[in-house]
This record gives sequence, structure tokens and C-alpha cells, in this order.
Amino acid sequence: MYARFCHSRGFNCAQTNLGTGGEKYGLETIRASFPRYGDCMRIRCLCLLLTAQLVLAAGNASRGKYLVNEVAKCGDCHTPVASNGLDQQKWLKGTALPFQPLQPVPGWSSMAPDLTSTGPLWRGWGEVGIRKFLETGLDPSGHAPGPPMPAYKLRANDAGDMAAYLKTLK
Ligand code: HEC
Repeated sequence: MYARFCHSRGFNCAQTNLGTGGEKYGLETIRASFPRYGDCMRIRCLCLLLTAQLVLAAGNASRGKYLVNEVAKCGDCHTPVASNGLDQQKWLKGTALPFQPLQPVPGWSSMAPDLTSTGPLWRGWGEVGIRKFLETGLDPSGHAPGPPMPAYKLRANDAGDMAAYLKTLK
């Protein structure tokens, strides 16, 4: 019985020397191994939880890249235009907008700022500020952006992923 038990726990039973007279030793080995087995599982669970937390906290930059470049198209306004389309060398580096409204729009802003992590915006707001802005549509002092910047109210994980991507841009 001990032998079966000990096999199911993955111990090497040959070493536990089960049998007449050896049972005591085998039982002690199993008993002694139990707390260690439990500790090991606890540590493993803790590690998994910590990893999950880190991944959540850091945001998923490749998903963020997709959301920024393919879904929200931030580059249409924040990347300068080159002769053959958006300037790949100055991706999201900020620019004067290449368009304007047909009718006057109150509060219209014709400059879209640099969104890369080396720009003044990141230095002032930090990653938390950028995330919050994308989540709430409000800057760190509680103001909404002027048009045509959309006041996005994204889910926390989307905002986190997008900020993680922007952070990779220099
Ligand atoms: C339709 C054009 C347009 C699009 C699309 C756009 N932006 Fe903007 N964005 C602007 C303009 C213009 C401003 C300047 C607004 C102002 O000065 O109030 C701006 C400002 C910002 C600011 C600074 C806001 C502030 O209050 O200073 C951030 C951050 C920002 N955009 C991030 C993004 C991100 C991230 C995306 C994509 C998810 C995006 N923008 C998409 C035009 C755009």
C-alpha cells in the first residue's frame, strides 16, 4: 500500500526499501516528504500567481501594438506624413495634423504630440498617466483632450497593453 502510494507521488520506491522491516523507513520517508511536497506546490502556486501579476501589470506590448496601429490608428494623427505615406522612421513621434475641419470647431488642436516613451508627454505623465488617460479620457489634471483627439474610454487591460507598446517606442 505504501509502495503504491509512494509511486503515485512520484518517489523512487526502490530507495525507500519497503518490505519486512523496511516499512518503518518507507513510512518515515513518505511522512517526511509530505511537508516538502506541500511546500513545493505552495511555492509553485505563488510563482505562477506572481508571474500572472507581473504580466498583467506590465501589459502585453504586442497586443498593444495591434490595438494602437490597427484598431485605434493613432498613427493617422500622431505620425508625420512622408512622401510615401506615414513616416515609418518617426512612428508616433508627433506632428502638425495634415487636415483641418471644414467648419470652425471650438477647441480644435492642430498639433498631435509625441507618444513615444522618450517624449515630454511620457516624462510628464509616466506609464500610469498614459494608461489612465486611455482608460478615462482625462489627463492627469482631469482635462479631456481637445478635438480631434478622441476621448477614449478603454478597458483597463487594453489601455495597459497600449501603454506597454508605446513604452517600447523611442
Ligand atoms: C483623429 C486624430 C487623432 C487620433 C486618431 C489620435 N489622436 Fe491623440 N491627439 C490628437 C490631437 C490633435 C491631440 C492634441 C489634443 C490637445 O492638444 O488637446 C492629441 C493628444 C493626445 C494625447 C495628449 C492629450 C493631452 O491632453 O495632452 C495623447 C496621450 C494621445 N493623443 C494619445 C493617443 C493615442 C494613444 C491614440 C490612439 C489610441 C490617439 N491619440 C489617437 C489627435 C489624434
